[in-house]
Amino acid sequence: MNQPFAIHLPNEAATIAFATRFAHTLRPGLVIYLRGDLGAGKTTLVRALLQALGYTGRVKSPTYTLVEQYAVAGLNLRHFDLYRFRDADEWESAGFRDEFDGNNVCLVEWPEQASGLLPLADISITFNILQDERELSIHAYTDAGQTCLNALSA
Ligand SMILES: Nc1ncnc2c1ncn2[C@@H]1O[C@H](COP(=O)(O)OP(=O)(O)OP(=O)(O)O)[C@@H](O)[C@H]1O
Ligand SMILES: [Mg+2]
Repeated sequence: MNQPFAIHLPNEAATIAFATRFAHTLRPGLVIYLRGDLGAGKTTLVRALLQALGYTGRVKSPTYTLVEQYAVAGLNLRHFDLYRFRDADEWESAGFRDEFDGNNVCLVEWPEQASGLLPLADISITFNILQDERELSIHAYTDAGQTCLNALSA
């Protein structure tokens, strides 16, 4: 496990610019946890990332659906928001377990809501809020995650 690194994002435009760079380092199978309070910018990051990959449709928050799926730039992407996830039995019955198939790129908001069910992350990004500024703390836990972060800082 490597040291986390921090990125300072002074405004929303900076978050979008970061997401655009991050988008191009994604590889099939990555599991990415997005941690941080309500309104921290997790969905903003995913939306910008999808747009950077060429997705032109609407990217809505999976607040109620819990997961949205996208096929873009040769990647199958799953965007989870587990804030309202309560029932552990649903993990299997809703097919969530099958989504972590080593091919889908899975971006997961509120991963703590399904701890013990979710596979471990390759990367976690923690958002800290200070008015319009955001401080991201980014951590790789696997070789695949580290490869992605190396590309990001290259
Ligand atoms: N630097 C910034 N980066 C990202 N968003 C910012 C920034 N500054 C302000 N914002 C605002 O913060 C809000 C972030 O909302 P967003 O839906 O992305 O949060 P979220 O982390 O997904 O929340 P939730 O946990 O409720 O899903 C937006 O209204 C956005 O305009
Ligand atoms: Mg969100």
